[in-house]
Amino acid sequence: MASSIVLLLALLLVALSLLSVSANLVSIDCGSSDSFTDENTIKWVGDDEFVSGGKSQVVQTTNGVARVLTTLRVFSTRKRNCYSIKAEKGAQFLVRATFFYGNYDKKSSPPEFALLLDGNYWADVITSATDLVYKELVYVANGDFIEICLAQTKPNQLPFISAIEIRGLGTDMYSHFDAKYAMVHTRRVAYGATDNIRYPSDDYDRIWEPVEGGDGLIKLTNGLHIIDTSVPDQPPAAAFQYAITTSQPSVSISLGTDLPTDKVPIYIIMYFTEMSQLTTSETRSFEIYIDGKSESDPIVPVYGTVTEMSITNITASSSTNISLVATADSTLPPLINAMEVYYVSGPLTGGTDSNDVTGLGILQDKFSILQEWTGDPCLPSPFTWDWVNCSSDITPRVTALYLSGYGLSGQLPDFSSLDALQTIDMHNNSLGGAIPDFLGTLPKLTQLNLVDNKLSGPIPTTISTNSKLKLVSSGNPDLCAAGATCKTIIPAESDNGSSTGGGSSKKKSSKLPLIIGVTVPAIIVFVVIVVIIVCVISSGNRRRAAIAAHYAGQNGGGNMPNGQPSQGGPIDPQMVGKYAEVAMNQFEVNIQGQSAPTTPDLTPQQNEERPLY
Ligand SMILES: *[C@@H]1O[C@H](CO)[C@@H](O)[C@H](O)[C@H]1NC(C)=O
Ligand SMILES: *[C@@H]1O[C@H](CO)[C@@H](O)[C@H](O)[C@H]1NC(C)=O
Ligand SMILES: *[C@@H]1O[C@H](CO)[C@@H](O)[C@H](O)[C@H]1NC(C)=O
Ligand SMILES: *[C@@H]1O[C@H](CO)[C@@H](O)[C@H](O)[C@H]1NC(C)=O
Ligand SMILES: *[C@@H]1O[C@H](CO)[C@@H](O)[C@H](O)[C@H]1NC(C)=O
Repeated sequence: MASSIVLLLALLLVALSLLSVSANLVSIDCGSSDSFTDENTIKWVGDDEFVSGGKSQVVQTTNGVARVLTTLRVFSTRKRNCYSIKAEKGAQFLVRATFFYGNYDKKSSPPEFALLLDGNYWADVITSATDLVYKELVYVANGDFIEICLAQTKPNQLPFISAIEIRGLGTDMYSHFDAKYAMVHTRRVAYGATDNIRYPSDDYDRIWEPVEGGDGLIKLTNGLHIIDTSVPDQPPAAAFQYAITTSQPSVSISLGTDLPTDKVPIYIIMYFTEMSQLTTSETRSFEIYIDGKSESDPIVPVYGTVTEMSITNITASSSTNISLVATADSTLPPLINAMEVYYVSGPLTGGTDSNDVTGLGILQDKFSILQEWTGDPCLPSPFTWDWVNCSSDITPRVTALYLSGYGLSGQLPDFSSLDALQTIDMHNNSLGGAIPDFLGTLPKLTQLNLVDNKLSGPIPTTISTNSKLKLVSSGNPDLCAAGATCKTIIPAESDNGSSTGGGSSKKKSSKLPLIIGVTVPAIIVFVVIVVIIVCVISSGNRRRAAIAAHYAGQNGGGNMPNGQPSQGGPIDPQMVGKYAEVAMNQFEVNIQGQSAPTTPDLTPQQNEERPLY
């Protein structure tokens, strides 16, 4: 007995650890059914269990192409197709989607389409004939699944995807943004590095792209092998092997950001370490300038430890000039080791009304053809499911079902939780049995089209007495229209009586398996969530402390930006174009009229493509 309990506990632990491992590092090789481990020790799995629909394809260009990019999945039907990946609700993830066209269709015509995340518009994907394209963001999962969807936006341009990577991030990381928003990645660089830095050098498999010198920039190599990188955002030690500097203090470093052309709220993190032991006569001190104004107190990198600076609560665009400028007393020019550039998305949606999602799920359980539609039913708005109409509320309601000609057969299930429905069109199917009562009590329903089905029995009084509701039901030979004599065994008196035939008892029996089907996984999910909550709570104190310890490598002092790091808390969203301004760390602007030194440009070359895998 005792041993079997121990065994059970052991099994449970194994199951939980498997679950958490899989949630923290999921690497999906789209269009493939096989698993393999690549040279970075990353384990890739095929995509069968994450997606329904689409077609596997193999690229034509395979020379020098990483294995994961040789297959892809293309979608030729429906407005939108989704991958659904189990995640821990409330945990923070890095999500990366990669697209390599490789002329798979032999048309030499790389398509353009939309990428969506959990009912949010994420990005336009413009694929390339020769290079891979990837999109990445950091966000907090607001459900038990991460849904990544592709939507066609141009005629004859079919969406496809090559790889999806989900990486769990530490709870301390990127703590200066609000879970109501996502941080969209535009750039992550290791200055002076010669190759991409990623897993296993980076525990979180962020990809740090190398940017070498050029244009008067000088590469520095670190004499130290062990560097204290214990700042909140946990950059990889490999990123501090090299740095970029200029020839003299009067020459500043201008940093390319790859930000969009319109102004957006930004979240930029810069990482610095001194590259050698300075003599007593040497000082290196510089400030961050944004469009010619100093936006930080002096930064003094320390040998052996990392200083992290985040810039938030400011908007910027591709033409914003972000530079490192030496202070007047500095004997050495500015340097930088690594940088991450994100912009803050618009507010993330909570998705369609949950009662409506439940009701649609009941229809999908009953009619399997409808299961091909995945992701949020209504959002984002141009990509709603083909057979629903939605209101334009912040939390959208489903206002119409357009299900004519879907080959639906059998009895209608109870989808009365869809109580914002105004229109139901189910004509030209093979629906049988009685018309359910609840259709007459949906408060907003005005149009009900059941023409050309196999419905039988009387029309429920809930419908016949509902003056706002217009029912059309011709083409159902066994249906007793109001006032007509019923030819079936059901007596005509029930037209105005309370009995409405066998529908209700069947409804109950068809509900039971659904409840079981939902409850069992829900219990597992619940256990996992409890474990996660315990973990999160136990590390919660660290999160607070880490914000204060933003400059862990140094003893506070002169290297703080103006203003203390924010304690988080509610933000005051202010729309900036289509993006909300949310960032939390205030920089007091401190104008200093410094002379403008010449500025080498670190904006990446467009042709500077390196393989990611
Ligand atoms: C960018 O700002 C730096 C520092 O203020 C300045 O030296 C440089 O000339 C500016 N570059 C451009 C292109 O405006
Ligand atoms: C359904 O949506 C379409 C397109 O948004 C709109 O033209 C139509 O009027 C809607 N129908 C109803 C019943 O709301
Ligand atoms: C009825 O639906 C079927 C598909 O189930 C379709 O092929 C047919 O054209 C539809 N008929 C009408 C009259 O719309
Ligand atoms: C039901 O309706 C019929 C006419 O359709 C009427 O003669 C009969 O009295 C009604 N019965 C009840 C119980 O209201
Ligand atoms: C962000 O900046 C704006 C304008 O500079 C300021 O009014 C607001 O208080 C700042 N918000 C935070 C959280 O620092």
